[in-house]
Amino acid sequence: MRAAIEVSKELDVALLTKVYPSRSHSGAAQGGIAAALGNSESDSWEEHMYDTVKGGDFLNDQDAVEEYVKSAPRIIYELEHMGCVFSRTPEGKIAQRSFGGHSKPRACFSADRTGHAILHALHEQLMKQSKTIKIYNEWYMHSLITEGNRCNGVVVSDIRTGAVEVMHAKAVIFCTGGYGRVFKITTNAFASTADGVMAAFDAGVPMEDPEFVQFHPSGLYRQGILFSEAARGEGGYLLNGKGERFMEKYAPSRMELAPRDIVARAEQSEIDEGRGVNGEDYIHLDLRHLGEARIMERLPQIRQLGIDFISVDCVKDPLPIQPTAHYSMGGIPTNKFGQVIVDGEGTKMEGFFAAGECACVSVHGANRLGTNSLLDATVFGERSGKSALEYAKTVDFAKVNEGREKTKVLKLFEDIFQRDGTESYNQIRDEMKVEMMKNCGVFRDDEKLKVCIDNIKKLQSRFKNGKVTDKGKLFNTEIYEIIELGNMLRVAEIIAVAALARNESRGGHYRTDFPKRDDVDFLKHTLVHGSEEGLELKYKPVVITKHQPAERTY
Ligand code: FUM
Repeated sequence: MRAAIEVSKELDVALLTKVYPSRSHSGAAQGGIAAALGNSESDSWEEHMYDTVKGGDFLNDQDAVEEYVKSAPRIIYELEHMGCVFSRTPEGKIAQRSFGGHSKPRACFSADRTGHAILHALHEQLMKQSKTIKIYNEWYMHSLITEGNRCNGVVVSDIRTGAVEVMHAKAVIFCTGGYGRVFKITTNAFASTADGVMAAFDAGVPMEDPEFVQFHPSGLYRQGILFSEAARGEGGYLLNGKGERFMEKYAPSRMELAPRDIVARAEQSEIDEGRGVNGEDYIHLDLRHLGEARIMERLPQIRQLGIDFISVDCVKDPLPIQPTAHYSMGGIPTNKFGQVIVDGEGTKMEGFFAAGECACVSVHGANRLGTNSLLDATVFGERSGKSALEYAKTVDFAKVNEGREKTKVLKLFEDIFQRDGTESYNQIRDEMKVEMMKNCGVFRDDEKLKVCIDNIKKLQSRFKNGKVTDKGKLFNTEIYEIIELGNMLRVAEIIAVAALARNESRGGHYRTDFPKRDDVDFLKHTLVHGSEEGLELKYKPVVITKHQPAERTY
């Protein structure tokens, strides 16, 4: 939405979403959006930058990080002026709370519904621009239309009718989110299924750093639903089965507010070593000492989620939690202007831009700090919008062979409808999720990853022998779920293959057989390319400007 608003200042935009704009997964970012406003304590972009780079285990491209954190205060005030309702200090300033890995309280928030508040403010702006922005709700994007090194549009279908259409465009911007749904336990919405990254991959764009998947420390036990890190930012404790605040052992100076990779690993270690609550695979998030008034002011959604989903009221009882797949640090490679890059030399795909979780700029490196994601989506939403606008003003619509492009997608539908196999797609999806959780999750090793790749390949073969039960055209959500599953099975393999090749531990990627970070061999970004022979791995250097890699202690 932020990108569309930028483009609509001068050109017409089609905004296409497979859900509704206000149902975007950004709504799940509950606890805040980072900016060094310094409203509670003095702060600076330099400190925000250092925290982000250290949090990312020094894999971040620092030229991009610098511009990103410098833009943050302006972006926040702009959102405020668009109507985003932020929580306030007693003097009326935008309130800021602490978050993991940030050395200063810099999360601007709207209670624990920050993403939701931003989505609605942006949606109102879209309504205001309705002459230039046409919204296509519940449309699915199948593929990019490219010719040589230029992108000329997308092939889409209307989920309501199944009608396939070609959308010509002078510029295309993907803001298609991540792929947390490949894991069994995830905070991610049902829509986060890798459609964008896989469409880009099919058009010859590699995937950058896919092995870096973030596990958020506070997912509702067994369901993965997010209990915001804001709960710890407000002073919540993590307790193991013995009632100990175990973070003292793992990050004594930051405790529960260490970066997510460290907290998630600490939790998983407590669970694996038999110190989960009641010997089970969960630990406790304890908010009781905060009191009802503070919980209702700062964390009302969390309280309601606990009551609605497990009948636990966090005012009276601790919440059962476990690590949950939350964020994809990797994605479609872009430069700091949101332009998509197809190789290690910085070659652009003309007319193609990406922003937000689907993109890898890379401002988050190997591990994103909480509240840096809403910032990424708005900063690079704006930047990619500006870049797309400037590009589109300089080119004419290219000729597109509509029939050829449409036929590819119609054939995909037909192939699925014709399949009369014996396999259940739901079963395949469930097995993939369990596999990724078990063998490509918080702790990985050579053996587990090889098993994982093998099993994902078997699932890919079984996928070809699936059986569709709904052969109708109208609102056939089954067919879209099958297409999404196909994308997820491919991205699952890409994640595991990149993880197997990275023989070190860094940020969200932890190898028990290589527990140390290895800057000699692995201070580099992975680029996974598709080829006739299968996946091909290449690497490109990390951009280091101000901060040389240092030991990461908290
Ligand atoms: O915990 C949270 O509120 C999530 C925020 C984020 O991922 O940035």
